[in-house]
Amino acid sequence: MLALRNQILRNSFGTHSTNLDSVCSSSCLFGAFNGSPKCRAHSRFSAVAGDVNSGPKRTYQIVVAATREMGIGKEGKLPWKLPSDLKFFKELTATTLDPTKKNAVVMGRKTWESIPLQFRPLPARLNVVLSRSRKVGSANAEKVVVFESISSALESLEQPPYSQSIEKVFVIGGGQVLREALNAPQCDAIHITEIETSIDCDTFIPSIHFSLFQPWYSSQLLVENNVRFAFASYVRVKSSISEPHPCGNGGESSFRSGSDKFEVGSFNFLPKMILERHDENSYLGLVQEIISSGSHKEGEPWNRILSKFDCEMRFNLRKIFPLLTTKEVSWDGVLQEFFRLISGFTKKLPDVIDEIRNNLDDKRIVLSVQNPSDLTLESCNLRLIGPLQLCVANGELSCQTHQPSADMVLTIPLNIASYALLTCTIAHVCGLIPGDLVLKFGEAHVSKTHVRPLQEQLHRLPKPFPILKINPHKKDMDTFVSADFELVSYDPHL
Ligand SMILES: NC(=O)c1ccc[n+]([C@@H]2O[C@H](COP(=O)([O-])OP(=O)(O)OC[C@H]3O[C@@H](n4cnc5c(N)ncnc54)[C@H](OP(=O)(O)O)[C@@H]3O)[C@@H](O)[C@H]2O)c1
Repeated sequence: MLALRNQILRNSFGTHSTNLDSVCSSSCLFGAFNGSPKCRAHSRFSAVAGDVNSGPKRTYQIVVAATREMGIGKEGKLPWKLPSDLKFFKELTATTLDPTKKNAVVMGRKTWESIPLQFRPLPARLNVVLSRSRKVGSANAEKVVVFESISSALESLEQPPYSQSIEKVFVIGGGQVLREALNAPQCDAIHITEIETSIDCDTFIPSIHFSLFQPWYSSQLLVENNVRFAFASYVRVKSSISEPHPCGNGGESSFRSGSDKFEVGSFNFLPKMILERHDENSYLGLVQEIISSGSHKEGEPWNRILSKFDCEMRFNLRKIFPLLTTKEVSWDGVLQEFFRLISGFTKKLPDVIDEIRNNLDDKRIVLSVQNPSDLTLESCNLRLIGPLQLCVANGELSCQTHQPSADMVLTIPLNIASYALLTCTIAHVCGLIPGDLVLKFGEAHVSKTHVRPLQEQLHRLPKPFPILKINPHKKDMDTFVSADFELVSYDPHL
């Protein structure tokens, strides 16, 4: 499924292949530091804020690993050992779409000097070191380019010969450099390894400004060497910090649907490996698979379909709300479906919530919420629902559903969002974090009359998913009304 979707992404970017073999695989390379990649050939904001107009057009992406307190280093070194993070860093910063080009990694002089001698410069990348004093450590110093400021580095990287040879620019630390670069207008995206375990640090960076950046994807929690962490990427959606919403007084009146438009139209500047991680690809990949290799079922003209047996989609609810962006989905429709779901579950839901609340320590709790006789069968959609299971683990609530039959166009976009809303709301009233939503289908199909519009949809790149906010004052399932749910920054392709 992913291979097919990758083909679509490749078509969107041209035919250049990614040469992962060129990525250095030595994890000890970063024994003393973790870097980050970035860069883009031109600014999206050339007509926006004044500072940006006068600054360099070359933009960048940041790669960093940071604790919750935004700690990144201790005594000139990385305070953790995470081989998979180093692998991710190398893959992200060294991979190019065009095999004749390289990416640039921009780092502070102290970060450069923290890389063990035998591993610098970082291979397969242009190493750019920032130093006002220009006292860059002598060994291998001839193999790097030194600049006295971030803007002089960016200006130079947008001029020949670098304009032709450098594909992306990644700013990779350390603290001093990121304090200047993190929320700056030229920063397009931040790829952050979020360290959840509390670790002592002496070098810190500022927090990400969430009115400028929105999550693109986040991974599940991983554990390595007793350190819990997750990968996440944030993309810039606004050029400058938004004014507070006139209704946003923090009270209940601010819980309403919003539809802030992004100032960024396309996110194809992201590295391919990050583009592919957007969860909407789970839906698009399945649709692509059904269209290209589904079984043909003939019948009445309105009933001719392509279908696949035994299918699955996954959505990570930890940071985003999965309302499809390649085609608009009605938020009002989602709310209606959600309230229908809740009314369908009235017999069991209070018991389930009690059980979750009283067994928060039980990591293996798995609850079968529904059996068909419990449903008040109001809607056609509800009749098609199979068992729904909730699972609590590590303070997170995940949900899995099974539908015997799924229409990928007419019902599934609404179903994804209504189940996501159900999971997020149950997690909210139980004091848990929403985890994964897994939708399994006995068979999934598309009507042949929908194939052409779906093919158009498949050529659109997803945008960042919106964010869901739930009224923090509401804690009882049966007291929720539509106004208790706010959808922030939903800007689908129209
Ligand atoms: N967690 C991560 O992802 C990550 C990534 C990288 C590094 N780190 C950690 O961060 C720590 C190092 O950070 P740091 O803040 O001490 O040092 P740094 O930012 O790596 O380097 C600071 C030096 O860079 C030069 N510099 C900084 N900003 C500049 C600017 N705007 N223009 C020109 N030159 C500039 C100056 O060099 P001169 O003094 O020569 O003028 C300055 O002394 C280490 O512990 C390292 O392991 C962590």
